[in-house]
Formats: sequence, structure tokens, C-alpha cells
Amino acid sequence: MKLNIVTKESGKAGAYALFFVKKSIQFSTILSENAEKQVESVLNGMENGPFEDLEFLEIDGKPTFFVDAAKERGISALDHLRMAAYRLAQKAMKKQAASVSIFLADAADEQFKAILHGLHYADYNFDAYKSKQKQNFQVTYEIVAGDRISDFKKIAEDVAIEQKAVTLAKNLINTCASDLYPAEFVENAKTIAKYTPGLNIKVRDMKQLQKEGFMGHVTVGKGSSHEPYMVTLSYDGTKGAKRTSKDHLVIVGKGLTFDTGGLCLKPPKSMPEMISDMSGAATALAAIQAIATLKLPIRVSAICCLAENAIGNKSVLPGDIFKAKNGKTVMVDNTDAEGRLVLSDGLAEAGLIGATHIVDLATLTGAMVRALGYAVAGFFSNDDDLGLKVINCGEACCEKFWSMPLEEEYADALKDKFADLKNTGTDAGAISAALFLQEFVPEDTAWAHMDIAGTAFATKKWKYTEYGATGFGVQTLIELAREMSAPSEEA
Ligand code: BES
Ligand code: ZN
Ligand code: ZN
Repeated sequence: MKLNIVTKESGKAGAYALFFVKKSIQFSTILSENAEKQVESVLNGMENGPFEDLEFLEIDGKPTFFVDAAKERGISALDHLRMAAYRLAQKAMKKQAASVSIFLADAADEQFKAILHGLHYADYNFDAYKSKQKQNFQVTYEIVAGDRISDFKKIAEDVAIEQKAVTLAKNLINTCASDLYPAEFVENAKTIAKYTPGLNIKVRDMKQLQKEGFMGHVTVGKGSSHEPYMVTLSYDGTKGAKRTSKDHLVIVGKGLTFDTGGLCLKPPKSMPEMISDMSGAATALAAIQAIATLKLPIRVSAICCLAENAIGNKSVLPGDIFKAKNGKTVMVDNTDAEGRLVLSDGLAEAGLIGATHIVDLATLTGAMVRALGYAVAGFFSNDDDLGLKVINCGEACCEKFWSMPLEEEYADALKDKFADLKNTGTDAGAISAALFLQEFVPEDTAWAHMDIAGTAFATKKWKYTEYGATGFGVQTLIELAREMSAPSEEA
């Protein structure tokens, strides 16, 4: 996909695309009187039949895509616009339309952004493992922006940076586990740090993790021939910035490059999807790449907790007890509840590097998938202000979060007879997991936990995602960093 943002239509594009959002996006200036009448009748047809939401017709002798983005389908108007743009791009590729003019001079910033998102999503294609690579047909979009040209250019630049990060996360998540084991994830992170100005990286290997007492990683990772790693990326956007935030946002990501369940083996049916059990870490890495590239004036770090939960003669045994980084002892009741063990190290490390705010992301529990499904992520927080920010930032980029309780009633179930804690609790699996994590959150630190088990990976085609990684969370994190670096006036 190529994007040209222009003031006036060049006249060179082979096709038009007209978006109808309750007629708020206007285009009448480009149409002849006769064409306007034709458009009017198409609009009627779209409203009352027989036309579909997306039509490809000739108007004034010019091939024209009609995109009805006005209908409500229980999703937000902006998400609807994304979907409409996604479908337009798919149709344009199918029709091999080399260039399409989109008339958006009257679009609000948010509407323009949503359309760009849809176009970008349609452009994503993961065919690394196909014997014949399917190249998407390259469409050039001419965005006719009128006097909004400079605003739109800036928005398009930012969206391109954000979408590059979303693509990075998706590619990492979709790559199979034998090709993306912890050391390989580290190589990817190193490359990103090398090519992103202002982004620093610190890598701890098995020896270092053991030496420093990050025993969650050691316990989970020791059964695999692929060693565990902890990667910390850091970015300080406050240097030289005029208005800066005093906050230090630390993103902690679960990075299980594969989760067999360990000795408490998973059933075969649900196992292939576990290539996505490193989605939290991939999301953290992608978000900080974009935050640094956008040069947001805030301090942000990302901690990727990388391990492979495998079966081997050194695998952790159910009943084993280890001492976590913050001094608490943990009995491993179920080797399949491994995410919370590596995250215990990540949360402790976040405290050690001076986090004021921690957001962790993890494909943590099957219970979360059963509770909220694939469209909504569960979300827990010990801080109302941070909680509200996350929900609002999610809403702004069509990533939905539902606030779940850190129900104290269930905390007792995490107590063990021998150790301080065990890694399983009540049947309220997602809440128990969150309560376990809370035991490792440094004191006086605002913390939010996102259980993205349902939203990170689509097991079937859904909305603007094909089978596979969705990139869920990347945009919310970027938006959160943006919001924290430039709080709104009321805040
Ligand atoms: N990685 C899984 C959770 C998961 C399930 C992610 C489905 C994506 C889709 C996690 O490590 C796990 O296995 N959790 C167990 C915990 C239980 C043993 C306490 C679960 O939820 O079943
Ligand atoms: Zn597991
Ligand atoms: Zn897992």
C-alpha cells in the first residue's frame, strides 16, 4: 500500500472511493451534477436495498467504490469506519485498482485515523511459511485532504509508526515456536534497539537470572533446551523535552515462546495456539519501539519475560518450591500456571528500576477466554486513575477492556501449607491469577494487569484480522504513553 496525501485530486487515480458516514464526509465538490444524482440513487439503494454496504460502480465514467460506513452494527462508529476501510482495501486489491482517490477533506482526525487503520490492516499478510508467497496487490491511495493537508500528513506519519509496531508484534506472535525461542526473541529485540534511536537494551541470560535470584524464569525455563531470558528495554523521552512527565511507565510482558503446560501437559487441541503465549512480550517490545520512534516525552521501559515451558528431565516438578525475587516462596502446584511465575520476576524488576506505573500484559488464563471471549480483554488495577486511563485509551483505538475485581475473598486460596504462596487458587481463574501477580507488585506503585488470553490471537477470521495474531494492546499502550506524557487539562 502506498499513501499520497494531497490538497486537490490529481485526476490521475483510476478509481474513486466515497465514504458515507451519515453524510458527514462530503465529496460533492468533485462530482458533476449528473454524477451527484447517480450517487444519490446509489445511496438510496444502499439504505433500502438492493445495494450492499460496499459497491463498485461507474459514476461519471469513473470506477467508484461506495463505502457505507454509517450503519450501526453494535460496534463503535470509529470501528465501523475501520471495518469499512478494511473492506474497501480488500476489494480494491481484488479488483486490482492501482490507484484510488479517497475524499476526506471533511473527516475529523479520529475518522481519518480509523480509515488509515483499516487500510493498514488489509495490507497485513503473514505468508512466511507458504511455499508460494502471496504478494498483496499494491494499491496507491490518494487522500484528498483539502486544507487539512498538514494535519493529515502528521497523522499519517504517526499511524505508520504505530502500525509498523503492530505488524512487528503480529509477525513475532505468528512465528512458530521452534523458530522463535527465547534467544531468538532476544535477537529481534537487539535489532530493534540497534535501529531505534534512544532505545537501550539489557539482556539477562540463565546464568545471570540465577545469580540475581530471578527464580521464576529459572523455574519455568529450566525444563527446556532453550534457555530463558529477561530483556529490559528502556527509553527516556524526558531529556531535552519542554513539558515532561515525571512518571516512569514500565510495561511487563509474558513471553512464553511456547507453553506445553510442562509436566501438567496441555491437551493437544489447545496446544498449537500456544505459539502466541509470548504475545505480552511482543506487545511490550512493539509498543516501546513506537513510543521511542514517536519521541513521546516520557520515561518508558519494557520488560520481556522470556521462557519456554517444556517437558524435559530438568522440568520443574509439581510440588517444587522456589524463592521469588521479592523474597516470597512459591509452591508450583500446576506447571501450566507458568506465566505468573515469570511475571513475578518482571514485576519485581519493574520496582527495582523505579517504576511509578506498571502495566503488565499476559495471555494468562483460559478462564479469561471463557469469561470475555475474543473481543474483550480482562483488566485489573490497584489504581483508579491508571485504570480509567487504560480503559479510555483502549476505547480511543477500539481495543476493549472490561474491568475485573481483585476480589480479596479469593486471596486465601493462594496460600500454601509449606510455602508462602502456591500458583493456583480458586475456580475464578483469571481473578486468582491477578491476585497472585499482585503479591509481586512493588509497594506504592500504580499497577494494571491485562489478561489478553482471548484477544491476542484469533483462532478464526474475525473483524479485520485473519487467523492469527491481532496485535491487541500495542495501540492502547502507545496511547497510554501519549496520554501520560501530555495529560489532558482536566487531569
Ligand atoms: N497460556 C495459558 C493461558 C491461555 C489459555 C492463553 C488459552 C491463551 C489461550 C496459561 O499458561 C495457562 O495454561 N493457564 C492455566 C492456569 C491454570 C492451570 C491455573 C489455565 O488457564 O488453564
Ligand atoms: Zn500454561
Ligand atoms: Zn501460558
